[in-house]
Formats: sequence, C-alpha cells, structure tokens
Amino acid sequence: MKKKYKWGILAPGKMSAKFTGGLKLLENVELYAVGSRDLIRAKQFAEEFGFKKFYGSYEELVNDKEVDVIYIASPHSHHFEHTMLCLKNRKAVICEKAFALNSREVKAMISEAEKQKVFLMEALWPPFQPIYRKTKEILLGGEPGRIIHLNARFSFQAPYNPADRKFNLELGGGSLLDIGIYPLIDALYFIGVPSEVIAKASFAASGSEDTISIILGFGDGLMATLYSSFRTAGGIGCDLLCENGNLFFSRARDMSQRLNVDLNGKENTEYSLLPDGMGYQFEAMEVMKCLDEGKLQSDIVPHSFSLNLITTLDRIRQSAGIVFPGRDS
Ligand SMILES: NC(=O)c1ccc[n+]([C@@H]2O[C@H](COP(=O)([O-])OP(=O)(O)OC[C@H]3O[C@@H](n4cnc5c(N)ncnc54)[C@H](OP(=O)(O)O)[C@@H]3O)[C@@H](O)[C@H]2O)c1
Repeated sequence: MKKKYKWGILAPGKMSAKFTGGLKLLENVELYAVGSRDLIRAKQFAEEFGFKKFYGSYEELVNDKEVDVIYIASPHSHHFEHTMLCLKNRKAVICEKAFALNSREVKAMISEAEKQKVFLMEALWPPFQPIYRKTKEILLGGEPGRIIHLNARFSFQAPYNPADRKFNLELGGGSLLDIGIYPLIDALYFIGVPSEVIAKASFAASGSEDTISIILGFGDGLMATLYSSFRTAGGIGCDLLCENGNLFFSRARDMSQRLNVDLNGKENTEYSLLPDGMGYQFEAMEVMKCLDEGKLQSDIVPHSFSLNLITTLDRIRQSAGIVFPGRDS
C-alpha cells in the first residue's frame, strides 16, 4: 500500500488555498497541519480545508515531528528564510516560485538540502502540465524543425497598491519574479540557457518594476522575446516559431490550457484541457513519488533548472536595473 504523507502548509494565503485544492484530489495525502504567523488565521485555514492541526508560528509547524513535507507559499522575499527553517529541521520542502530573491540564496538552499539529505523542489506549475509537456514532445518529435524564435508573455492589470507584495520591494515586488518568471521558464524549458540577456523595465511609484521587456540570445540566430506587466491585460501565452511551422501555447487565469499546432502543409491541430484542482496536484504527486523513491530532487524540476532560472533572473535584473535593497548578490 502507498505511504500516506502528512502535509504541512507554511503561510496560508491565497496560493496555499489553491495548492490545497490540488492536494485534496490525492489519496496518499493527509491534510495534517497549517502554520501561520497568526494563530487565528491558521485555525481558519485548517477548519476551512480540513487540516488536523494548526499553529500560530512557522517554528511550531517545523517542530512537529509528524510532518513529512511542507509547502511554502510566503512572499518571495521570505522563501529563503522559510526554506532554510524547514530544511534545518529536516522537513522535505516544495517552495513556491520565485524560489528566492537571487542566485546566492538559491545556492545556499540547495547546499542545505544536500547537507541535510532532504528533498527540495521549486513549485513550478508549467513543467507538470499535460499540454505543456505535449508541446515539448511535439518539438522533440522533430516535425516542427528547429525553433527560430520564441515569444512569450504574461500580463494582467493589477491595481497599484504599494503595500501589496506585487509592488512592495521589501516583499520582492515587481512583475518579473511574480509573472515574468513564466515566459522565462518557457524559454529555458523549450530552448535552454541564453548566452545573451538584454532587458528594459518601467517602474511604479514604489520603486518596484511593473513592466519588463526582455531579449534573450542563444546564438545561431535563435532568439526569445519575453514580456510581463501589471499594466496591460495581455494574457498568458507562448509562440514557438519554427522552421516548418508554429506552435501556439496559451493558458487562461483558471489554468485552462490550449495548444495550437500549425505545421506547413498540414491541418491545424488543437489540444485543450482544464485540469482538475487547477493542475497543482501534479507537483504534489511528483514530490510524493520522489519521497517514495528516496530521491532528494525531482527529474522534472531538478535543482539545476531552478539554478539556471534564478541565475538568468539575476542577469535580467542587472540589465534592467532592478534592485532589491540589501538583498542583492
Ligand atoms: N504557482 C502559482 O501558480 C502561483 C500563483 C500565485 C502565487 N504564487 C506564489 O505564492 C507565493 C504567495 O503568493 P500569494 O498570492 O498566496 O500571497 P498572499 O496571499 O499574500 O499570501 C502570502 C502569505 O505569506 C505569509 N507571510 C509571511 N510573511 C509575510 C510578510 N512579511 N508579508 C506578507 N505575508 C507574509 C502570510 O501568511 P501568515 O501571515 O498567515 O503566515 C500570507 O498570507 C508567492 O511567492 C507567489 O509568487 C504562485
């Protein structure tokens, strides 16, 4: 019989509610404990979703010997601190994107996981989605030929509020780490690590970036153009323009996914899916599969992918002049 894992939720905000929706679909999950900075919030979340225990501090959550694995969904600015807290207490961790604010922090998190011999994975939604994987499969199948250009975007209109984590530099604010990370994941996942990075940003009154345009060069004429913004309602999508036709991948805010394959001389093929649980269960399934197999990292989102991601984010920030005061590598 499959082992049932006792899950802990660290920081029960909006994203934790969505992730728990995914956990609820899985048989080998026990909704075990919630840790919040505030006991009342922990209790409310535990009661709403059916967790057995609740704690008014993150320390109490990580000190609960029964907890097998912790999902971290605090603001990006706190991922380093909270991941280290869990790892030092030998808890397996899946931590939301952006994994941390810079590559120095991510390297330290990975070193700690290796030292403690504990599982660690960044919670990246796209690589686990069936249609996203289908896109990769079609590209690897060879029919589209070489990718010549990738154009990807993620934008929505967010009302300006300097206290909101999206605009608050102290909380890692800016569109890049919040949503611009997705077009970048597309580029890394479908092409690889760029040799050149050029970026230009605009900034909100709080000093946080609110729009960014990025050009990545990979050599041999292969380029990617990426865009994210809190000022336009441009949606979420990725166009892969290839030698023998194009693939257009898009998703809506409800996480429904659509892929249109338009290859020269062939009829268009369309794939679409609205995953149960908004697709978050796939990440949890991978975590528990890795734990079952005694693995310390995932083959789908290995530490090397997270390191390439944050290192490229550092390069983009440097090119665009985006600084997190007191936290830069
Ligand atoms: N994968 C995805 O699809 C996806 C989607 C949205 C967001 N995310 C990620 O999830 C993370 C959380 O986003 P969210 O939208 O859930 O944010 P949120 O609703 O503001 O929740 C964040 C939680 O973090 C805790 N927290 C700890 N220190 C904090 C501080 N100094 N200031 C504010 N909150 C603090 C709070 O919980 P307590 O005080 O109760 O402990 C708060 O409820 C972000 O890193 C974001 O990038 C991922």
